[in-house]
Amino acid sequence: MELPSVVAHRGASTDRPEHTIGAYELALSESADGLECDVRLSRDGQLVCVHDRTLSRTSNGRGTVSTLSLEQLKQFDYGSWHRHGQAAGLLVLDELLDLVKGKNVQLFVETKHPVRYRNEVERKLAEALKRHALDAQIVMMSFSPTAVRVFRELVPDVRTVLLLDRLGRYRAGALPEFADYTGPGVHLLRRDPGYVDRARRAGHETYVWTVDRPEDVALCRDLGVRFLATNAPANTRRLLTAN
Ligand code: G3P
Ligand code: CA
Repeated sequence: MELPSVVAHRGASTDRPEHTIGAYELALSESADGLECDVRLSRDGQLVCVHDRTLSRTSNGRGTVSTLSLEQLKQFDYGSWHRHGQAAGLLVLDELLDLVKGKNVQLFVETKHPVRYRNEVERKLAEALKRHALDAQIVMMSFSPTAVRVFRELVPDVRTVLLLDRLGRYRAGALPEFADYTGPGVHLLRRDPGYVDRARRAGHETYVWTVDRPEDVALCRDLGVRFLATNAPANTRRLLTAN
């Protein structure tokens, strides 16, 4: 069975501050097959790579990302909070798209959802991909079926993942027609490992998050998952290829 592709979750985020250019450069130097990032909109409609709704965990700033302009967001340090960190600037999606251009790596972009920008994130992402002409390297992801559907209508050629934090109505394996891959958390596969096979029989390969523990890496490998998102790509690759 083919080994899963290793996707660096928020970059090589165990060893570098998440969503900084340094985290992604380290992941590339560690030969990650893919990079994962989360995107949100600034108040003035720019796509920025920040996971949380607010700034406090991953920067020295305070406040809600969607209420601050790009210029305001750029004033903060997004690196020093991390134990291996040093001062680092805000990462905007355009920079990450420039980083992957021409390289043999996929970029998995997850849209996050400030309520006041209903599906504006997906529309802005579609525009950014058009500007950069990178469709073949990009995979769009969301926990929101509506977001995935809207994005598919805007950019039919880009593959999509419907992320799942519970299997719920998708337990049997089938997904709506706008989703290519299924994206369960690894906690769901620990409970129900047969899901990967049911999804495969329904035509969907699996992207699993977030897989760092050796027993989870082994589980994903044995089940034949297609993509494995990990905070520690070099270590995960070692675990995958060990015996
Ligand atoms: O890769 C999908 C995974 O990142 C979803 O959860 O909270 O880390 O964005 P979260
Ligand atoms: Ca994410």
